[in-house]
Amino acid sequence: MKKIMPIACLLLMLFVVSCKHEVPTALTITSPIISPPIVSTSCSPDTVYYKNVIEPLIISGCTTSGCHNDISRADGIVLTTYTNIIAYVSAGNASNSKLYSVLVKTGNERMPLPPLPAFTATQIALVQKWINQGAKNNACNACDTTNFKYSTAIQPLIQTNCVGCHSAASPGGGFNLSTYALVKTCVTSGRFYGSIAHSTGFSPMPKGTSKMPDCQVTQFKKWIDAGSPNN
Ligand code: HEC
Repeated sequence: MKKIMPIACLLLMLFVVSCKHEVPTALTITSPIISPPIVSTSCSPDTVYYKNVIEPLIISGCTTSGCHNDISRADGIVLTTYTNIIAYVSAGNASNSKLYSVLVKTGNERMPLPPLPAFTATQIALVQKWINQGAKNNACNACDTTNFKYSTAIQPLIQTNCVGCHSAASPGGGFNLSTYALVKTCVTSGRFYGSIAHSTGFSPMPKGTSKMPDCQVTQFKKWIDAGSPNN
């Protein structure tokens, strides 16, 4: 991605976090191809799955308070379900899809709107690949509860499901989950597991969407029970 000039960057930092903004060109809603849910029992390494990857990424990156959730509806856009996400996608053609093109813009045309963090190059590539693979409503159910290492299981799950709402620019509930040390602080506070397990007395996370699959919650449980190591 292109770098924002330092001055522009500084000016942007002065803006309050807000998703109310001017959209230079109206977002055109293409007639979406609504794919029925497709669930496979194994995960192909070549496929980007909507339910496993894209939905959590969009929920975490785009539906923070003031943005594209059912309540704030910034610019009238809601991005909480497959049906409303697909309205900004031209299936099979990422470069012709608003959902993709706003991720690679610069300055305050880029989404998530600065100073919220941009999607990483890897995340942008996933969105691009999913659209180019037909933007299907697909999911795969192969989660391995014997893998509960921070680097290969926990960190990727947090990056996909949580960091959009829990970064330095937007620390939901005061929790920034963008580094191991900060995740550890949240776990130590005793608020982490109850939230993802949807236990009574905790705010259910990820916010505004369904609970993570039980298998993933189990991966977190095993990692926390092992002392939440940075392994
Ligand atoms: C769409 C935005 C959003 C997503 C996605 C999200 N959070 Fe949150 N989170 C918030 C907000 C806002 C708060 C503070 C208000 C509240 O508690 O509901 C919060 C609060 C919390 C709290 C404190 C809850 C409590 O009961 O004390 C924890 C812990 C937490 N989040 C962890 C996570 C984890 C872990 C994930 C990913 C699995 C996640 N969040 C995903 C927005 C989000």
